[in-house]
Amino acid sequence: MSAQYRVGVIASGRIAREHGRGWTECKNTEIVAIADSHPQALIEYGRDFDVPAEHHYLDYREMMDKENLDIVSVCSWDPMHAEMTIAAAARKPKAILCEKPMAMSLGEADAMMTACERNGVKLAIGHQRRFYSAWTEAKRLVQEGEIGRPVRIWSATRSGMMNTGTHCIDFQQYILNNQPARWVMGAVERQTDKHIFGHRVEDRCVGIIGYGDDLEGVIENEMNARYEVGACVYGTDGMLEVNDNRLRYMTTKSNGWQTFQPTEKILTGYGTAHVDQAYGIVNWIEGKEEDYRGQAKYGRAALEIMMSVYESARCHERVNLPLLTRANPLDVAVETGVIPVTRPGWYDERAMLVRGEGMSWVKK
Ligand SMILES: NC(=O)c1ccc[n+]([C@@H]2O[C@H](COP(=O)([O-])OP(=O)(O)OC[C@H]3O[C@@H](n4cnc5c(N)ncnc54)[C@H](O)[C@@H]3O)[C@@H](O)[C@H]2O)c1
Repeated sequence: MSAQYRVGVIASGRIAREHGRGWTECKNTEIVAIADSHPQALIEYGRDFDVPAEHHYLDYREMMDKENLDIVSVCSWDPMHAEMTIAAAARKPKAILCEKPMAMSLGEADAMMTACERNGVKLAIGHQRRFYSAWTEAKRLVQEGEIGRPVRIWSATRSGMMNTGTHCIDFQQYILNNQPARWVMGAVERQTDKHIFGHRVEDRCVGIIGYGDDLEGVIENEMNARYEVGACVYGTDGMLEVNDNRLRYMTTKSNGWQTFQPTEKILTGYGTAHVDQAYGIVNWIEGKEEDYRGQAKYGRAALEIMMSVYESARCHERVNLPLLTRANPLDVAVETGVIPVTRPGWYDERAMLVRGEGMSWVKK
């Protein structure tokens, strides 16, 4: 019988509800405490996930100091991921699950990883689509050579590269078995002062990722109306398409398209991915899955590609990896006038989520 792991959730908003379902349906984990700077968020989440008021906290550090947590979920807006993860690492839980994107810069990501390593904490990033059966089957098809040697991967989505786009990049990494990118060429359009989840983002951008001599990935963000997460993969002997948890493929041996039926039930937008993610983290803690598929080094790899798209646009050149710039190159480009705002007026595409001034991200 496995141990029962005590989970504390920081920030009780929308994605925390998916984490909540994952920790609740996983038989080895239980949410024992929650923290949110907004009292109403605590009341609603506590009611829906059965967490009594004496375990509600306005201060997440106080929660971690008092609750003896085994696992901490970090579900806040993006700019708070690093600070909260580093604070959690200092309290030495067994694992932290931090939402995507991992951080705002490689400097932050490395500080998070160092803090976790020094405290013996496993750090996972919430690219939960790695648990979709269609994504895993696509990985198997590519890795077992069913479509020949992959030569082009094309992903297009909306809602910002650092938001939905990070899942597309993570898909490319996942099906390539985390093959490191060698270079990135990027173009960024940013005329308005657009933000998402409290940080600067592009109006639209594209990137080409060089994985190998004849293997390239393309990422498009906000270029057309497509709002799907996944990719088309072209190989020397076939092709496949993954759009969220749907997969179809064609090979030189098949007679037209083959369709893969996802093995899990699709109950919400993410199916059972968060439940599988919870089990994956438990298995990682217990040493049953050594190379956990959602671990921080893979979240960092997606972040490095996104930072490289921005750096390429800032420097007008193909950027070789590993990326040496530790700051967020989009911030640097805007602040130094390389990519100036021509249509002024700060706005945040996720402003509809703002509950009140308790949210510490709000623009100063
Ligand atoms: N993995 C995915 O597919 C996926 C999907 C959606 C969102 N996300 C990520 O999840 C994160 C949260 O997004 P969301 O849509 O849930 O946002 P949300 O606005 O619904 O929730 C954020 C919560 O954080 C709370 N908060 C703000 N400041 C705080 C503080 N200092 N301490 C504690 N709580 C604080 C807010 O009160 C709010 O309840 C983002 O990083 C986003 O990128 C991931």
